[in-house]
Amino acid sequence: MDDERLITSSLLAEDETAEYSLRPRFLNEYIGQGNVKEHMRVYIQAAKLRGEALDHALLYGPPGLGKTTLAAIIANEMGGNLRITSGPALTHAGDIAALLSNINEGDVLFIDEIHRLNANVEEILYPAMEDFAYDIIIGKGPSARSLRLELPKFTLVGATTRMGLLTGPLRDRFGIKEQLELYTPDDLKEIIIRSAGILGIEITIDGAYEIASRSRGTPRIANRLLRRVRDFAQVMANGIIDLDAAHDGLDMLRIDELGLDAVDRRMLNCMIVKFGGRPVGLDTIAAATGEDASTIEDVYEPYLLQLGFIARTPRGRVLMPAAYSHMGYAPPADNRESKGSQTSFV
Ligand code: ADE
Repeated sequence: MDDERLITSSLLAEDETAEYSLRPRFLNEYIGQGNVKEHMRVYIQAAKLRGEALDHALLYGPPGLGKTTLAAIIANEMGGNLRITSGPALTHAGDIAALLSNINEGDVLFIDEIHRLNANVEEILYPAMEDFAYDIIIGKGPSARSLRLELPKFTLVGATTRMGLLTGPLRDRFGIKEQLELYTPDDLKEIIIRSAGILGIEITIDGAYEIASRSRGTPRIANRLLRRVRDFAQVMANGIIDLDAAHDGLDMLRIDELGLDAVDRRMLNCMIVKFGGRPVGLDTIAAATGEDASTIEDVYEPYLLQLGFIARTPRGRVLMPAAYSHMGYAPPADNRESKGSQTSFV
């Protein structure tokens, strides 16, 4: 099996490559996620004191919040190497066997999108995680026997945007489970100032805060907007990102003052106009907006839920009054169709 196909770090998308240089490498450089950071600091220190590998860790939460970054930090703090792969890249049992046979004591094996693992691969992971063992079946039928190979003590770090899709047995094999939450604008401002320092971008605190407050709680988005606003400031202004440059640049990108983009607005508009704010299923929203249902669920919904713009009910997604006012509509008095005028940007 070709190892390159399994190790996806060399196949990072352009956005991720740019992001890579901005990633903190140690816990003390990592901004935000206070609880997760403090827990990890204790677990890492304790494992080091005992001279053991860190327990397997499952990181979950919306995309772009730093799950891969945390896995790399764990490897750095523990003094091991990081091997990166993902659930969909491991199609055969042999794929995971190839990775496990290359691992050394104290290494971190990072599996992104671990909820998308194939069942055969998952079965191999169970003894690997629990007993640091790899079971090979020799022969077939009644004469088949199994041979157990010992593996070095490693740490598996799994990441998922969908905790609910993990099988029980896999979930139970992680001793550490940490939920990453959307970042506050203050934390994102600090991240933007740090990134600007690394990239040699001149930025004011107000400029950084403006970008932060339109980055929907997500460092990956904050760093992307920083690079785009830098382009804007270089061409249209004096190259310095102050409040005005940030404001104008983000308006030009059609990111509104809460960080909503064209897809969010299309989704909200569709829920108001087509469905009159009545409960509507995820697949219906996806069909009506032309977006993928899982993208809506993983990428768009967490921020809209946090803003209190939508709510999940057993009958479907419903719109909350705050969404109506943001979109320039009067909230309906009851469940009948709302009336009102559309806002700009729609
Ligand atoms: N860059 C991306 N995420 C970061 C974080 N949490 N802290 C510091 N820099 C970052």
